[in-house]
Amino acid sequence: MNNIKDFENLNQKKILLRLDLNVPLKDGVITDQTRINKIIPVIEFLLNKNSKIIIISHVGRPKGKINNDLSLKPICENLEKKINRKIKLIDDDIFKLKKEDLLKDPNDQIVCLENIRFYKEEENNDISFAKHLAGLADLFVNDSFSCSHRAHTSVCKITEFLPSFAGIQLETEINALKKVTTEIKKPITCIVGGSKISTKIGIIKNLIPKFDNIIIVGGMANNILSYKGNQIGKSVKEKDCEMIIDEIFETSKNYSCVITYPEDVLVGKNMNDSSQVKEINNIKNNELILDIGPKTINKIKNIIKTSETVLWNGPAGYFENPNFANGSYEIAKAIVKKNKDKSIYSVAGGGDTIALINQINAIKDFNFVSTAGGAFLEYLEGKELPGIKALK
Ligand code: 3PG
Repeated sequence: MNNIKDFENLNQKKILLRLDLNVPLKDGVITDQTRINKIIPVIEFLLNKNSKIIIISHVGRPKGKINNDLSLKPICENLEKKINRKIKLIDDDIFKLKKEDLLKDPNDQIVCLENIRFYKEEENNDISFAKHLAGLADLFVNDSFSCSHRAHTSVCKITEFLPSFAGIQLETEINALKKVTTEIKKPITCIVGGSKISTKIGIIKNLIPKFDNIIIVGGMANNILSYKGNQIGKSVKEKDCEMIIDEIFETSKNYSCVITYPEDVLVGKNMNDSSQVKEINNIKNNELILDIGPKTINKIKNIIKTSETVLWNGPAGYFENPNFANGSYEIAKAIVKKNKDKSIYSVAGGGDTIALINQINAIKDFNFVSTAGGAFLEYLEGKELPGIKALK
């Protein structure tokens, strides 16, 4: 894999730069800027080399349709301030863009294409879309490790049509995760939460042979609770996961991996509600599970206490509402406490996980924080990520 840092002459070269600017947004306001801060080095590097930059990114999951709530506008404005340069957001139809029309003004050095997932072709890894995008630039750089598990056009197919390079942050993340996975100390615990159930549930089974404990919290835990015969009311749940969950529990029997899931939970009647502690066999039809309960927190704390390594991806609850943030905060505090005693090696990953750790100002108290969520878990699985393979 070649890194853009080693490319000889970048002067006036037009670079398609794939970034992951998929930051959490609330009413158009960015609630965590970590992913933006992490890509400043590659932008500064390219600007210093006098390159012309065309940023590509997605935000959210607009499913191939224009959705003004998922515009990159607020993110571009934030980035503009950080690098102190004008960034033109191009919302014209990408299929109508021509290379000679982009960055025409000699003073323009950086533009950003509007949310690439407004085009259905992006998630289809579409060859015509890739060819067209490639026609806008001279080189392609992927500095979005956190998107590299997606076989999408602007991550994979594009590399077939342009000389392609790894970016600075992508290389940093891979090197750090390589080190973690080769130098790991047991007992090792993996905590998996968050709301992207479909991305993560299939991965758990493959993680079982590598871990002593897998703790399942967040949205995915609802699937487990329902599988075990509990009513989960209006809680989020992925359809048709029974077979995968069967396999998870069956596989865990063949390895010394303990699967832990909630024993009690916090519920509300809607996402903005106050919280109420509930046993898992006592959830009403009009209630939503939005966090883990005190017994579960204690159990998780005890597992963390006896672990030498902990890898964490995905919050335990809907932490955006402070009434449901306690489970995630308590997990974070338990890890930080052990980290301060230097008795644990801790890695956290994913946009939401970073956002919640930032809320308690504890990023520096983790050994490594990866911007990647799903990509982080797939990397732990031992899979070669399609976006990384494409760069080779
Ligand atoms: C992420 O947040 O993990 C990446 O931006 C990928 O987003 P996705 O899960 O919607 O593909």
